Amino acid sequence: MAFEIYVEENLNKNEKYAQLLPQIKSLVENETDLIANLANICAALKYTMNFLWVGFYRVEGEELVLSVFQGPVACTRFSIQKGVCGACVRQKQPIIVPNVHLFEGHIACNHQSNSEIVIPVLKNGTVSWVLDIDSEHFDCFDEADVFFLQKILELVF
Ligand code: SME
Repeated sequence: MAFEIYVEENLNKNEKYAQLLPQIKSLVENETDLIANLANICAALKYTMNFLWVGFYRVEGEELVLSVFQGPVACTRFSIQKGVCGACVRQKQPIIVPNVHLFEGHIACNHQSNSEIVIPVLKNGTVSWVLDIDSEHFDCFDEADVFFLQKILELVF
């Protein structure tokens, strides 16, 4: 089966997400395997939105463990006391970092990253996964990303 995601390049961010969301929905709706769906979500987001790195970390006790992603190799495991992802787990809310170099405790997996967003997946009041996205551009993320990325996560969690 051939399956391609297509988002026009000359659109603004909201328009791109609006085109992308229904395509991701049809990509995942007939598949029950979570990892398969997360893998396709990473690819769809990275290659339509041109992010540097898109991936999921799973919360395992007091640590975050790398799961599926698209982009350069990344840190495999770190404490929830560390990094933007750790802050997201502890605060149980999305975190937008306009300039990662100014975020105390930021874990630099890739030197090209300049801004970052982390969205938690909450189950019964506990964060079980986070979606982490890095951009080469400063100030790449805002509330529109939070809105659409949460909608994408709701398709699979
Ligand atoms: N920067 C993240 C670590 C993960 S990498 O960006 C892929 C953080 O500070 O939690």
